[in-house]
Amino acid sequence: MFKKILVATTNFGKLEEYKKFLELIGFEVVSLKDEQINEEAPENGNSYTEIAENKAKFYSKYTHLPLVAEDSGLEIFSLKGFPGINSNRWMGGTDVEKNQALLNKLRNTTDRRAVFKAVIVYLHKKSLVRFEGELYGEISKKPQGSMGFGYDPIFYIPSLNKTFAELILMEKNKISHRAHALQKLVSYLKKYQL
Ligand code: IMP
Repeated sequence: MFKKILVATTNFGKLEEYKKFLELIGFEVVSLKDEQINEEAPENGNSYTEIAENKAKFYSKYTHLPLVAEDSGLEIFSLKGFPGINSNRWMGGTDVEKNQALLNKLRNTTDRRAVFKAVIVYLHKKSLVRFEGELYGEISKKPQGSMGFGYDPIFYIPSLNKTFAELILMEKNKISHRAHALQKLVSYLKKYQL
C-alpha cells in the first residue's frame, strides 16, 4: 500500500524530479491533474518561502492529501539577483525566448555568476515545514543541451563543464538546488515515518 503525496506544481519538469526522490521512499506521487485540481495558485509573496507557503495553503483547500509546493528561481549576480522570485513571470513567451532575453542582457558582461534557489514547503495536517536548496553556477554564453526545462540550457556548472540541459535527470538530481531541498525533505519524511 503506497502512501500518497500531492506534488502541487503545474511544471511537468519539476514533477518528474520530485517523482524520482519520493517514489524511492515508497510514496505514490499524485499530480494536480490526477487530483482534478484545475486551479493554479497565484504567486503571492515577497520571498521564495512566502510564495511557496501560500501555494501550499492554496492547494490544501482542494485536497486532504499531504502535499508539497515549491517556489524557485534563478538569481544573476551582475543583474542584482534578477529575475529571482519573478523568474517565471518577468516576461511572457516561451522558455527559449526567456533564455535568449537573459543572454541578451548579459551580452557585454564578464561576471556571469548565478545561483538557483528552491524552497519546498511540506504541508500535512496544518503543519508546515520548509526545506531549502541552492546551487551556484554561471550563465553560459549560448544555450546548450536539450534536456530539462526552463533555464536549464543556460545554467552552466563549471565543475562538470556542462549546462543543466546537458545532464540526464539522474545527474541533475544529484546536484541541483531542488535536489538539495528534496534530500532534506526525504530525510524528514523518513525520520518521522510520514
Ligand atoms: P516557480 O517556482 O513556479 O515560480 O518557477 C520558477 C522559475 O524558475 C520557472 O520559470 C522555472 O522555469 C525556473 N526554474 C526553477 N527551477 C529550475 C530548474 O531546475 N531548471 C530550470 N529552470 C528552473
